[in-house]
Amino acid sequence: MEDIIEEIMELKRQRKAVILAHVYQPEEIQEIADFTGDSFGLSQQAAATDAEVIVFCGVRFMAETANILSPDKITLLPAVDAGCQMFTDAITGEVRRAKAERPEALVVSYVNTPAAVKAMSDICCTSSNAAAVVASLPREQEVIFVPDANLGFWAEEQCGRELLKWQGGCPIHGRLTVEDVRRARAEHPGALVLMHPECRPEVRELADYIGSTTGIVNFAQKSQAEEFIIATEEGVMYELTERCPSKKFHLASRKLLCVNMKKTSLEKVRDALKNMEPRVVVPEEIRLKSVAALEKMLAVKGEAACSAI
Ligand code: 13P
Ligand code: SF4
Repeated sequence: MEDIIEEIMELKRQRKAVILAHVYQPEEIQEIADFTGDSFGLSQQAAATDAEVIVFCGVRFMAETANILSPDKITLLPAVDAGCQMFTDAITGEVRRAKAERPEALVVSYVNTPAAVKAMSDICCTSSNAAAVVASLPREQEVIFVPDANLGFWAEEQCGRELLKWQGGCPIHGRLTVEDVRRARAEHPGALVLMHPECRPEVRELADYIGSTTGIVNFAQKSQAEEFIIATEEGVMYELTERCPSKKFHLASRKLLCVNMKKTSLEKVRDALKNMEPRVVVPEEIRLKSVAALEKMLAVKGEAACSAI
């Protein structure tokens, strides 16, 4: 493993590359990354980097976002088949139809969407700023929110306004049940439950804190509490134990594992840097239409952040 890490570091230097890794990535990938973070924090990094090559350790929509924001950089996605189970091309047609039926409505799209959906959106959001994004829109206008209905419900509650929600969702977070959380609480009495807003509303009611992955890590770090139940994808446990070595963390359920996020390996990162493939390139026509929605999103403050390793 040390040889391959040395090879990656050398190739990274030669290629003037930066490695960005989502906190759901395998531990050994988070270890070699220059920056780890949530979708929002990594988008900020991708937009601001002066590296020539962005190695995106995450899933396709994240690499597409990086390419839309930094088209003059080469964006590599080492795990070329890493998709998001919430991401479906069907949304593109649905959004087109919804816009035709309601031409006055604004479209908010979660970053977990194809670039073609971002191109039809007024603004994007991530889990860290969904409520702030919705709150930034005029109250008199209808808002179509795609594709995560659970995140949409959460934004509705925070902002006290109704959204026209597409009925999509993350199957990983959607697996978590009320029984799972009750069981975890019974096993770890006194532990605080920190949960991602992609979880279902009835499960979310049992949480002590709701936020994006970075929000969860920041909360655990600042909290006086010593023990937490974590209700999001298991990869975040690495960042939590790195940042809070003396605190105790328990995953709410072993079902919280996204196979797509685990498709990146050190070998794939090395090969991507060596061959400068697989690249992610969003067609220019779509890129030009989608960049404004992402830039507007970046201007709305959420709670996201990135940590430099
Ligand atoms: P964030 O917390 O990074 O917004 O991510 C949620 C997610 O599921 C990314 O795939
Ligand atoms: Fe998509 Fe859910 Fe996996 Fe995130 S955790 S990449 S939303 S399937």
